[in-house]
Amino acid sequence: MFDSGVGGLSVLAALQAMAPAEHVLYFADTAYFPYGPRPAAEVRKRAFSIAHRLQQARAKLVVVACNTASAAAIEDLRQMFDIPFVGMVPGLKPAAVHSKSGVVAILATPGTLDGALYARVTQEFGKGVTVLDVPGHGLAELVEHAAHDSPAAHAAIRDVLRPAVSRGADTVVLGCTHYHFLTPVIAAEFPGLAVVDTAEPVARRSLNVLAEHALEAPAGQAGHLDLIVSADPAGFRARMRRLGFAPSAEVSP
Ligand code: DGL
Repeated sequence: MFDSGVGGLSVLAALQAMAPAEHVLYFADTAYFPYGPRPAAEVRKRAFSIAHRLQQARAKLVVVACNTASAAAIEDLRQMFDIPFVGMVPGLKPAAVHSKSGVVAILATPGTLDGALYARVTQEFGKGVTVLDVPGHGLAELVEHAAHDSPAAHAAIRDVLRPAVSRGADTVVLGCTHYHFLTPVIAAEFPGLAVVDTAEPVARRSLNVLAEHALEAPAGQAGHLDLIVSADPAGFRARMRRLGFAPSAEVSP
């Protein structure tokens, strides 16, 4: 599984809860964080090199636990590597079904909102609803630097979401895995605003793909969590622990 930093841990938590027997190798690409503002070609290059590293570690499945990296690379990864990949797109489909006002805010990084994958999703599932694209400038940085419950996070969420809520949005889609950790702040600042988070559906999809390929871990095995961190592993471990995760081992990049 990989992400630019702590965001993908939201998918990891869902996966571990559903399948505690699976071993997970989590690659946090902190040396290149944040992905969001980077050109797609650069993110694609990182995704390729990480997928290569995970393949070397004999990964049976790669979960791209990052909307930005999925937007930049998912199709090319599937073509280039002989491993199944699960990627992420903003959950517009469930949001469009859920929304009563018919106005949905998509909170995501510029890389995700500008990508062809998201354009296809809006074309397919955005009919009949007003879709407001909301770039989450600075939000992933707050989460990555463990300030997800700080006064700065409250202020940032207010600033970023207020225009969409004023325009009638009753549902916000978390189109970046980092934003999962801002859910309590969103609930506090905008009570009544429904939040669509794809961490759990992506974890479920990952387990389905494993089952389709008959690759599930033997039941009863105790799964462990290993970690590759491309910059400042000690700092990353500390932030991980603050979010409630305890990696068992560290693997060199
Ligand atoms: N967590 C990533 C995503 O889901 C992006 C955060 C970043 O900008 O690096 O899009």
